[in-house]
Amino acid sequence: MQPKAKFRKDYRQPDFTVTDIYLDFQLDPQDTLVTSKLNIQRQNGTATHLRLDGHSFELISVKLNTQPFTQFQQTSDALILEIPVSYEQFELEIQTRLNPAQNTSLQGLYQSGDGICTQCEAEGFRQITYMLDRPDVLAKYRTKLTACKQKYPFLLSNGNRIAQGDLEDGRHWVEWEDPFFKPSYLFAVVAGDFDLLKDTFITMSGREVALEIYVDRGNLDRATWAMESLKRSMKWDEERFGLEYDLDIYMIVAVDFFNMGAMENKGLNIFNSKFVLANPQTATDEDYMGVESVIAHEYFHNWTGNRITCRDWFQLSLKEGLTVFRDQEFTSDLWSRSAKRIEDVRFLRTHQFAEDASPMAHPIRPEKVIEMNNFYTVTVYEKGAEVIRMLHTLLGENKFQEGMKLYVAENDGKAATCEDFVSAMERASGLDLAQFRRWYSQSGTPELTISDDYDEKHQIYRLHVSQYTPPTADQVEKVNLHIPLKVALYGENGQKIHLKYELSSVSDVLDVIHEHQTFEFHSVTQRPVPALLCDFSAPVRLDYNYTPAQLMTLVKFAENDFVRWDALQTLYFNELRTNLQRYQQAQPLRFSTELLEVLTLVLENANKETELTALTLSLPKETEFAESFKLIDPVGIAVAREFMQKTIAEALKERLLVCYNYNKLTNYQVVAEDMAKRALRNVCLSYLAFTDVGNGLVHKHYHNADNMTDMLAALNAATKAQLPCREQLLYDFENKWHQDGLVMDKWFNLQATRPDENVLELVQNLLEHRSFNFKNPNRVRALIGSFATQNPKAFHAIDGSGYRFLVDILMKLNDTNPQVAARIVEPLIKLSRYDTQRQTLMRRGLERLKGIDNLAPDLFEKIEKALK
Ligand code: BES
Ligand code: ZN
Repeated sequence: MQPKAKFRKDYRQPDFTVTDIYLDFQLDPQDTLVTSKLNIQRQNGTATHLRLDGHSFELISVKLNTQPFTQFQQTSDALILEIPVSYEQFELEIQTRLNPAQNTSLQGLYQSGDGICTQCEAEGFRQITYMLDRPDVLAKYRTKLTACKQKYPFLLSNGNRIAQGDLEDGRHWVEWEDPFFKPSYLFAVVAGDFDLLKDTFITMSGREVALEIYVDRGNLDRATWAMESLKRSMKWDEERFGLEYDLDIYMIVAVDFFNMGAMENKGLNIFNSKFVLANPQTATDEDYMGVESVIAHEYFHNWTGNRITCRDWFQLSLKEGLTVFRDQEFTSDLWSRSAKRIEDVRFLRTHQFAEDASPMAHPIRPEKVIEMNNFYTVTVYEKGAEVIRMLHTLLGENKFQEGMKLYVAENDGKAATCEDFVSAMERASGLDLAQFRRWYSQSGTPELTISDDYDEKHQIYRLHVSQYTPPTADQVEKVNLHIPLKVALYGENGQKIHLKYELSSVSDVLDVIHEHQTFEFHSVTQRPVPALLCDFSAPVRLDYNYTPAQLMTLVKFAENDFVRWDALQTLYFNELRTNLQRYQQAQPLRFSTELLEVLTLVLENANKETELTALTLSLPKETEFAESFKLIDPVGIAVAREFMQKTIAEALKERLLVCYNYNKLTNYQVVAEDMAKRALRNVCLSYLAFTDVGNGLVHKHYHNADNMTDMLAALNAATKAQLPCREQLLYDFENKWHQDGLVMDKWFNLQATRPDENVLELVQNLLEHRSFNFKNPNRVRALIGSFATQNPKAFHAIDGSGYRFLVDILMKLNDTNPQVAARIVEPLIKLSRYDTQRQTLMRRGLERLKGIDNLAPDLFEKIEKALK
């Protein structure tokens, strides 16, 4: 039977709602008994049937108002009960039996290591018991957990601990009560043995909140950064958004088996251990930043997600887009705003633009969904955050915060829609957001084509702006959007030109609303160089025919760091494009002197702006380059990119060495200045690896490293440049860390992204490695996911071996963990971007997958779209 799609337009209020739930868990890894008492309230006077969602457990019994009840029909995914219309309110008691140890899907109740935990978003609660498992049913939860005390000394759930006790048979129990109404997807349970890090936070109104972080035994020294991050998040949300935490306790549990990054369950976050654990020996600077931002993100959901939740899953961006925007702002306020912006834009352009160009294209508020798990996408999250950011740009911080206050006041305790949010912003600001709303319903990446002219006589400069959104897989007809275009003008010598119309100053944010529009600036005394899309003011592609000299001017003089970085990106992309053409026409590759000049300049200024230099000096990855082509040549891109890397390394070797030596540090500290230095030094190393001093330098760098950032940088340089020392270093690393899964993920990633000809064979052999575990999503992503997404040359091998390998893996993952399978299939469904030979092979792989029995809806939805 084919899975059925749901449509946003079909939303209906539920006929019944649940007001209170009492859950009793008799926990056992193989045999857990769940008793659920639901207090149900009729909402629709004429409804005769109550349909509860549920699957993947054994139903033991049903009682209605304490009496055994049999007037129901059980289907593969629901329990449909006949309820007399006279029943206004009643109690349903349902018993189910579960096997957490066998639950490899990691949704619902499952075993992780020696513990037991839950994952209920989006539709996992229905794998525990029958329920109206939808986000607009808000109930109060009381939960009693009983389990063997020795194996599971900690029994946790949402809210406050209200009672506990010991039983005579070695078991104990704890009862929890959550005073806040919440949807089922925010419910959580954890049972296990942990080390516990405790702290407190005093809120702005003076309440003391207990903070508890639970980690596997022996990992306490890796939890302090997460705790500090949590406290910083709580403080920041009070200061910038005026939002205060509402319970007396906030718990975070780190687990090793987790499909996603982390989950914001009310008062009891459950995290992939990757986003909690960090110490200098095991985590890189990037990991530290990742931990902090994920902790912040889940914390911020307490208001944008939990207190105000989503009416239905089509509204997911209401909580996720907004919360990503909030976590981005948090990181920007605490660290460097421009660096954060550059990283986020880079991520959006590579992954979200690619999604818009794929069969999975959808608006940030999707219209049609088969498997909800497939819509936790870069579009809903990152483009969703960009849409919020555009609102922020249009309204300004003050009006935006007024809009937030209104949104919270109107929707607290409710399940809301994206429309509720925009409406609050509209009323708070007085702006007309009618056209802006289209960002919620239109998919695709708009293209802004800009040309200009300068009227010297009248000192008028004009920008001619056209917008066009190409059709996407889901939507052919497109309309004009309201696009905030932030600009600046520079004179030849770098002076900034004031923006004027007649004699008045005008805003640097242009409102692009028509298909073609001209913006005029007066009193412009010389032909300016325009900086367009400053700070990436809208998630669009920009087409303006910059000359190298203009780009050079921007790199040198632009005030905005993003503009400077972006100008250099354009130079890199042009250089790659030209050399790719040469490669394809079998001509010798050549490097432009202009680009070398710019890079020389950048290196000369390195010590004045360490962080930005590290960012501008790093060459875009192959996948980033690939995104700028309609038709991708994975081998050509790899060749041209490596040529660029080597040429830069050779040409700037001495300067790179000076910079490398200058940025040496004596000890490891997670502070902005030192992180910037490490980043810059390690970029230099990645180039120098391609010169004659490479092997010696990298070898020494590895052995002198007192932290994971430097150690990994050395390993990365050694493998990417295929240095003679690489095998020995990889061996040393494996020997040291093979018992630590999270650290080994870095090693698996390095192996999977090796440029070596035989990399696929290496990856295949590593499936048997002592540290690999097919049931652990982190391991699967590190080895197989990295191969498929970060090693395009090998994955897209013209003999089809990469595709065959991935399909073989997916056939197994379809049975064990379809949610992860549907993530890893992504590179295979983007087939239209490749030549016909590769397309045929990719199609063949997808058809083979489609043919298997029990194809999960997760994979079905993507494969079907790809094969259309
Ligand atoms: N609510 C999600 C977690 C989630 C996603 C649960 C999909 C079930 C299905 C959480 O708030 C989240 O967004 N996590 C992100 C990390 C975050 C920092 C963007 C994740 O898990 O990737
Ligand atoms: Zn989230």
